[in-house]
Amino acid sequence: MPPADGDSETSRLVSSSSAQKPSYLNLISNLCGLIILGIITYCCFKKEVTLFSFHPTLMTLGWIFLMTTAVNAITPGDLATEWMPIRLRSARHWVLQAIGGIIITIGFLVILIHKIKIDKPHFTSLHGKFGLASLIFMMATMLGGIGALYSLKLKYYLAPIYTKVLHASIGLVTFTLGIVTICLGLFSDWWMKVGDNISKYVALCLVLLVMLFTILRPSLKIFFRVKERLNVN
Ligand code: HEM
Repeated sequence: MPPADGDSETSRLVSSSSAQKPSYLNLISNLCGLIILGIITYCCFKKEVTLFSFHPTLMTLGWIFLMTTAVNAITPGDLATEWMPIRLRSARHWVLQAIGGIIITIGFLVILIHKIKIDKPHFTSLHGKFGLASLIFMMATMLGGIGALYSLKLKYYLAPIYTKVLHASIGLVTFTLGIVTICLGLFSDWWMKVGDNISKYVALCLVLLVMLFTILRPSLKIFFRVKERLNVN
């Protein structure tokens, strides 16, 4: 039997109070995201426009910009959302994730169709394999998100707090997998042709910063919430 409040609506991962100090990390993370998007879009379109040009652009928009903003929406102390009631922040989170998920799926279809058209084998590179894994994890996270949204209805199977912790943990793994995929994309043969070393390493550093700013606080939040539930000192 889980403890009583694990079944109730108070079993939230995100605090409903706005007593947290607003953090500028989210703002910095979004700024870094915009610069990465600018660098990648420029490199994709500067020489020629092909179907492929839309793959890195859409993936960066979906993963680096929309997904991070969606995670930030439910991170304590988010500058843009900390004044909002928890239900609005939660709605902002899932709406942004859903839009990001659609854009990422289009980005995936773009590269799939492009490779079918030029008759190249699929999922042979490390980037392609990690990319496929990221997409499968993304689908699992989204299903888990629906579970977290209806966690009270599922309380006879799993206490809401665990549904939410599970969704948040798989979500962080998914996000990190996507970041690894993007880093591998920066080291692909294609980048050698379109980008220089400076833009590659600037983008790499910014991508790693975005990852750090996005997963640090949610990871700590999960760690302390689980510790508290398990009564570990
Ligand atoms: C999280 C974001 C991303 C995901 C999930 C992803 C996923 C994938 C997948 C699954 C493939 C293989 C498709 C196939 O073999 O049919 C692929 C190919 C490719 N992607 Fe990405 N991608 C992402 C971001 C990027 C970025 C940012 C770049 C460029 C900087 C990039 C560059 C490439 C290149 C050059 C290919 C073709 C070569 C290959 O198959 O490895 N991707 N991507």
